[in-house]
Amino acid sequence: MKRIGVLTSGGDAPGMNAAIRAVVRSAIYHGLEVRGIAYGYAGLMSGQVIEMPAGSVSGIVNRGGTILHSARAEEFKTQEGQRRALEVLRQNGIEGIVTIGGNGSVQGAQALWAEWGFPVAHVASTIDNDLPGTDFSIGFDTAINTALEALDRIRDTADAHDRIFVVEVMGRDRGEIAVHVGLAAGAEVVIIPEIPYQPVEVGCLLKRGGERGKRSSIIVVAEGAARALAVAADMADITGYEVRTVVLGHLQRGGSPTAADRILASRLGEAAVKALIEGRFGQMAGVINNEVVYTPLDQVVVGRPKLEVDLYELARVLAT
Ligand code: ADP
Ligand code: F6P
Repeated sequence: MKRIGVLTSGGDAPGMNAAIRAVVRSAIYHGLEVRGIAYGYAGLMSGQVIEMPAGSVSGIVNRGGTILHSARAEEFKTQEGQRRALEVLRQNGIEGIVTIGGNGSVQGAQALWAEWGFPVAHVASTIDNDLPGTDFSIGFDTAINTALEALDRIRDTADAHDRIFVVEVMGRDRGEIAVHVGLAAGAEVVIIPEIPYQPVEVGCLLKRGGERGKRSSIIVVAEGAARALAVAADMADITGYEVRTVVLGHLQRGGSPTAADRILASRLGEAAVKALIEGRFGQMAGVINNEVVYTPLDQVVVGRPKLEVDLYELARVLAT
């Protein structure tokens, strides 16, 4: 293999730039040329290919977002779209590709490998931390720290006014962000998609807290479980307390990556390049028990990451 490509796809995540840097620099170190593909699979289909010498990734390790930009591209799910992408890869002499993204992007990578036999190595990157085959995905640590800072600020004003706050965090299918942030912020309640939301139970819990003299309560809700406004309306009805809402939204996706995310991104970016060099195609680089591991993409696409019941339970116990 002489020349590889790299792209970022789906929801961006802080640390993607550090991963791009690791791919480019380690590939060059091992004697490969690198081409960047802008705008994920959309750019792959339309031929947005750029040269990536070592200097092209200078000064980006600390930056959020992705210098290669990202996109969602429905057309890439079709055979026609994939055929066009393969033609672009062929025309540009690209013999293998590193894809960086979340669980949708993994399916795109799997399509290139399983349907067409094109050499792919995927890097686990999503703030949702919902990929099987890794304990942590790039961007998660930064996202939870950003959300935590916001929650600490909300606690100050909630306490000052004896209020309930419902704070909605990201997480389409999984409550990873909500559980981690809820535990770290000392939230009174955490609502996640994996466990059905019971308004009356939550309302009674808040009332019991109020009777015990609790001045403020914070409910952290994952967007995939319920919307903040709906939960707030339920709580106002059931408890009669004053309730406010905050939707953290895309705030959680931006910002300078934490040290943990930069280090993870550097390790996984290099691991993906090594996978291509060593012929371990169709695998995802992740980290389990702090060791870099490779998981076949067919296992990643069908697998479900385990629910962190222990952390969810701990958050519940410590909030009582
Ligand atoms: P994320 O990677 O953040 O989970 P998405 O779920 O939006 O993001 O997926 C990103 C892109 O991956 C999609 O827009 C599409 O181009 C590609 N993709 C998703 N599912 C498939 C699939 N089944 N086959 C081929 N490509 C897919
Ligand atoms: O997958 C990452 C994520 O940030 C989810 O948590 C969220 O539901 C989604 O992307 C938001 O997507 P968009 O950027 O299209 O609004």
